[in-house]
Amino acid sequence: MKTVTVELGDQRSYPIYIGANLLGDGQYLQPHIGGRQVCIVTNQTVAPLYLGSITKSLKVNLQNKPAYQVNTVILPDGENYKNLQSIESIYNCLLENKHNRTTTVVALGGGVVGDMAGFAAATYQRGVKFIQIPTTLLSQVDSSVGGKTGVNHLLGKNMIGAFHQPQCVIIDTEVLKTLPPRELSAGLAEVIKYGLIADKAFFEWLEQHYELLLAGEPSIMSEAIERSCRNKALVVGKDEKEAGIRAILNLGHTFGHAIETIKGYGEWLHGEAVAAGMVIAVELSHKLGWLTRADVDRLKYLLKQVNLPISPPKDISVNQFLETMQLDKKVVNGKLRLVLLKKIGHAVITEEASNHQIQKAIMNCQQTPI
Ligand code: NAD
Ligand code: GLY
Repeated sequence: MKTVTVELGDQRSYPIYIGANLLGDGQYLQPHIGGRQVCIVTNQTVAPLYLGSITKSLKVNLQNKPAYQVNTVILPDGENYKNLQSIESIYNCLLENKHNRTTTVVALGGGVVGDMAGFAAATYQRGVKFIQIPTTLLSQVDSSVGGKTGVNHLLGKNMIGAFHQPQCVIIDTEVLKTLPPRELSAGLAEVIKYGLIADKAFFEWLEQHYELLLAGEPSIMSEAIERSCRNKALVVGKDEKEAGIRAILNLGHTFGHAIETIKGYGEWLHGEAVAAGMVIAVELSHKLGWLTRADVDRLKYLLKQVNLPISPPKDISVNQFLETMQLDKKVVNGKLRLVLLKKIGHAVITEEASNHQIQKAIMNCQQTPI
């Protein structure tokens, strides 16, 4: 088992535990539970697979205190359920079972469950503790770390939310064995992102090891998760609430969120949309004279090898893209700030790209053969 720490000062730093078979082991979960009430939030796909292990690990209070009161919310599965109605059903469970301000919400699932459980915890009685147990690769390397929580609005992705850091993140690498291959690839988009924005050596390592990652080789997978979490923890530790540098974690996301919103939530997986968005971002970085054509091609090759899209949908017009991107959280006074690359491993947040260059980059990428 390895531990990565998100450094947020004495009172608020928290551990990310990474290892095999941690899920059913109460010694990781229980010390981070505040009181004696626990509300586990999961979904209809993950519950039959892993809910039993968690509830079993809470049967006996390891601190020799009275048993926990455990209640469970099983949400419908899908990005299109990441909305306020699902949040309402979490509040209902908490209130009907008389959870008080010492309760702990436990998120068991992918990023959709994690973002919603976190938002419910951030807002229930003005904020209660929460714990992340991410079960997809994407949620293990990205969404469970850093405290961004929230839901989608029909007009824009992740538009309603709050920053609320977990008490800890428990990453059980074994659960990836049941993850569908398409979801594994989607997670690899965010893994590749860390190499692109700040860690060239990691990008090169991924170029060498992607086949083993696709095959789910345990030690390689564990290393990729740990290196991703270290990269994310470093950025979050510097800029918890995205006043500046944290925005680099959104490479490709401005374009990707537009794809998700326009196509309808769930049509393109988040990681797939981010992959296509990263290709647009590197194409634009090339147009600005920063990245070489060879570097753009390197990224496309790697994404293709891990079965990710390298071009955005052709049925979205450039105007639709630009209009939807105006809702991006990085827009200030109507001006779109983008995350682009000076080099592989060196991201910048910039307003330098003109609308014309952005349009050209989107159109060029749409013409790329899939
Ligand atoms: P997801 O939560 O929809 O999970 C993908 C699918 O895998 C779902 O059908 C889920 O039920 C299933 N699943 C989960 N674990 C499984 C397992 N072990 N075995 C079999 N099936 C399993 O998608 P995701 O890719 O995990 O997360 C995407 C979401 O995360 C998006 O809503 C995105 O906006 C959000 N996100 C948030 C942050 C953040 O910082 N908060 C960062 C990145 C992404
Ligand atoms: N996924 C971007 C962030 O956490 O900031």
